[in-house]
Amino acid sequence: MFDLKGKTALVTGSTQGIGFEIARLLSKQGAKVFVTGARSEKKCIAASEKIPNSVPVRVNLVVPEEIDRLYEVTGDVDILVLNASVQYKRKWDEFSMDEYDIQMNCNVKSSYLLIKKYAEGMKNRGWGRIVAIGSVNQYNQHLELSLYGVSKAAQMKMVQNFAPILAPFGVTINNIAPGAIETPRNAEAFEDVTFKKKVSDSIPCGYIGKPEDISPAVLLLCSEEGRYITGSEIIIDGGMHL
Ligand SMILES: NC(=O)c1ccc[n+]([C@@H]2O[C@H](COP(=O)([O-])OP(=O)(O)OC[C@H]3O[C@@H](n4cnc5c(N)ncnc54)[C@H](OP(=O)(O)O)[C@@H]3O)[C@@H](O)[C@H]2O)c1
Repeated sequence: MFDLKGKTALVTGSTQGIGFEIARLLSKQGAKVFVTGARSEKKCIAASEKIPNSVPVRVNLVVPEEIDRLYEVTGDVDILVLNASVQYKRKWDEFSMDEYDIQMNCNVKSSYLLIKKYAEGMKNRGWGRIVAIGSVNQYNQHLELSLYGVSKAAQMKMVQNFAPILAPFGVTINNIAPGAIETPRNAEAFEDVTFKKKVSDSIPCGYIGKPEDISPAVLLLCSEEGRYITGSEIIIDGGMHL
């Protein structure tokens, strides 16, 4: 079950956190994985060295032209995981226009461009898997993450709208919405033990999740066994949304 031998996978934002764990698991199941990040070539290489059968590619998804360059390196892939995101914590009226554009470009526009770019090959081969990583903030109201929530809700809407169009070609597309997961993104915030306890206490399971709590669901959606799941939402948050 969940055998990915012979498949190629592109996982955006896989130099750390949730994306790294997804890339690691897909590789463990036999896929060749493209490991990507924006910050530096060195960081991409360092992450890739920890993942067998992987290739590092630096790409800044804020810049649409970089997606063409990425495609030149990867060629068509069987699995596309849209995991990279930018998250600014700001009150709704305190965004600069640059920040607004950077967050929307990475979280929404690049998802659209990547789906458009890679879905064609998947359709031609009659097999493909696309998984978008959303967030519980696509449903919640949050004083400092309102526009981040907007970006994740937009991405989810793409998933729902594109799923019936891609399904006849053997291509599935789904969305996973994580809750609070311990990653480098929130490491500093969780150093505050009072805050960390407050978050844990708000989760019915009683603890903050790990990247390993997200990756198995991604694997299911990327596998042959997941072929009948499309246009779906999986919330993985220890029950926090309830
Ligand atoms: N952690 C949570 O509690 C949580 C909750 C809900 C949803 N999520 C979602 O889950 C996903 C992963 O989150 P995470 O916590 O693992 O994030 P993270 O620790 O901040 O890692 C983000 C990854 O995205 C890459 N990245 C950032 N900006 C990029 C850009 N402009 N172009 C290309 N890649 C870029 C980073 O690469 P470099 O550092 O190498 O540039 C890094 O590999 C995100 O979509 C996030 O919104 C996370």
